[in-house]
Amino acid sequence: MCGIVGVVGDDFKVFDVVDSLKRLEYRGYDSAGVAYIKDGKVLIFKSVGRIDVLRGSLGEHLKDEISVGIAHTRWATHGSPNDTNAHPHTDCTGKIAIVHNGIIENFRELKAFLEGLGHEFRSDTDTEVIAHLIEEEYKGDIFEAVLNAVRKLDGAYAIGVVHSDHPDTIIAARKGSPLVIGVGNGFSLIASDITPMLRYTKDFIFLEDGDIALLNDKGVKVFRMDGKPVDRRIQRIDLSESAAEKGGYKHFMMKEIMEGPQTLVSAMTGRIKDGYVKIPELEELDLSKITRINVVACGTSYHAAMFFKYFVEQHTDVDVSVEVASEFRYRKPHIDDKTLTLAISQSGETADTLESVRLAKRLGSNIIAITNVVGSTITRESDISIMMNSGPEIGVAATKTYVAQLTILALLGLQLIRERGFWSGRHKRILDNLIRMPEIFENVLSLSDSIRALAEKYSRYEHFMYIGRGYGFITAMEGALKLKEISYIHAEAYPAGELKHGPIALLDEKFPVFAISPSDSLYLKMKSNIIECKARDAKIISVGTSGNGELFDISNDVLFVPRVADELYPLVMAPVIQTFAYHMADIKGYDPDKPRNLAKSVTVE
Ligand code: M6R
Repeated sequence: MCGIVGVVGDDFKVFDVVDSLKRLEYRGYDSAGVAYIKDGKVLIFKSVGRIDVLRGSLGEHLKDEISVGIAHTRWATHGSPNDTNAHPHTDCTGKIAIVHNGIIENFRELKAFLEGLGHEFRSDTDTEVIAHLIEEEYKGDIFEAVLNAVRKLDGAYAIGVVHSDHPDTIIAARKGSPLVIGVGNGFSLIASDITPMLRYTKDFIFLEDGDIALLNDKGVKVFRMDGKPVDRRIQRIDLSESAAEKGGYKHFMMKEIMEGPQTLVSAMTGRIKDGYVKIPELEELDLSKITRINVVACGTSYHAAMFFKYFVEQHTDVDVSVEVASEFRYRKPHIDDKTLTLAISQSGETADTLESVRLAKRLGSNIIAITNVVGSTITRESDISIMMNSGPEIGVAATKTYVAQLTILALLGLQLIRERGFWSGRHKRILDNLIRMPEIFENVLSLSDSIRALAEKYSRYEHFMYIGRGYGFITAMEGALKLKEISYIHAEAYPAGELKHGPIALLDEKFPVFAISPSDSLYLKMKSNIIECKARDAKIISVGTSGNGELFDISNDVLFVPRVADELYPLVMAPVIQTFAYHMADIKGYDPDKPRNLAKSVTVE
């Protein structure tokens, strides 16, 4: 997730801007840069790697006194991490510098248009088009120029812009990406969150989508995109820096669960057009020619892969085989050039998944990677990469990246359904649900306190059985993995129908059952399984669909999520199982961000 900082005022040095940027390091980044105005010129320093490398290249310039400065940590989305693609970006004249967080969906069209007018581009980024667009709009008033430029942008952005002819001004704007203004006495600040500004002020304006702000020596003014001024409340926030970098949450894991709505938006941005899914990365691929899909993944990514299998096989004629990569790599799989291989890995560095990709490639298969890390090994070794755009995930347990994986796989499934001629009203409803999912998620995330209470009640149990059917089984598998990996409680996941083939023997009053029981086509079968478990004295925690009062009769505790299409319950229930595991770990005194024996990227077999 990119980070932005900016300062306007008389008492700053370049050092202060870089030091503020350092306080956004926790967000993760691959390159960093700073722009400021000195002697009527914009000076830009940027480099791939750590902020300390940037500091080194600034040298004596760190002591430069400035009236305005902007800086950025980049997490690559368009173009690999290198010095040229690092922000700030500038226009042809070198008078404008911009930092940006987000994704500009129409950047290709804008770039072609601007190149047609003679603008010369240096980087592969979507951000650079904004600098040239502002240059094109500039007639002496930098605020007007930025306003006219951002009106032409589709997608998500938080930006900070400076111009050498206005050495005491920053223009900031946001739509879909976070940006906060810090209000001080004789100075103003911008940043992606309040963390780097807490040393200077406790007074903040949280810009809303569609806001554009003018920060100069006279203070801060906020306007809407129609150019009309708007009053935004100044909020006083008295947090420590370490609490602020976790968004006020105790752990990154909870912050990342709570980022679900934004994660959904980022995963869908630019991939839905005119009522259908159109993933730009797949432009060259003819999905109607594929006969089989082979999916390789590990851990949580494997569970997301299972969702894809269920979804695609239910709605198309394509066979999907899913394999745990550590097994696949040592088998003799029957795949060829008509088989498409999908490799799912948030880190893009999982050793077993990479070896599986290499094996599938040797056998002639085309490889699509779904990953969160631009420039990771998997992106270099695959034919096509679909980025999750979730921003870095700091907690070791996969949470928001699982949400992103499910979202992208649902989109990919829907595109496949359409391109193979199976599209119907039902698929339109699934897509509509998906588009509404960020809003639905807000509702589910508000369950956190009730889930905490539930976790308190069950924290003394040493074993849990997670059961589900169909799509519910996917949630059961992921729920059990989350619980065991961060709270160290023994948890098993079974398809509910398998219970009576053995595992039901384990159940008694000391072995609670977490029953994934949405009101879908398999609900009545689930209900019978729940009753069987209850007959063995097991306590039942059901996760069901709002309005299903019957669950109270057969369960000890019930959590409800809103009704969605059957296929999307793994998505809407993801925060429930993640939050339950989180609270269990926290109540037991463990650090959910750093579970014992686990690493964020498993780069060895
Ligand atoms: O980076 P990847 O998606 O390839 O990682 C796969 C697994 O190692 C990962 O999902 C792991 O299971 C996590 N601990 C899940 O929270």
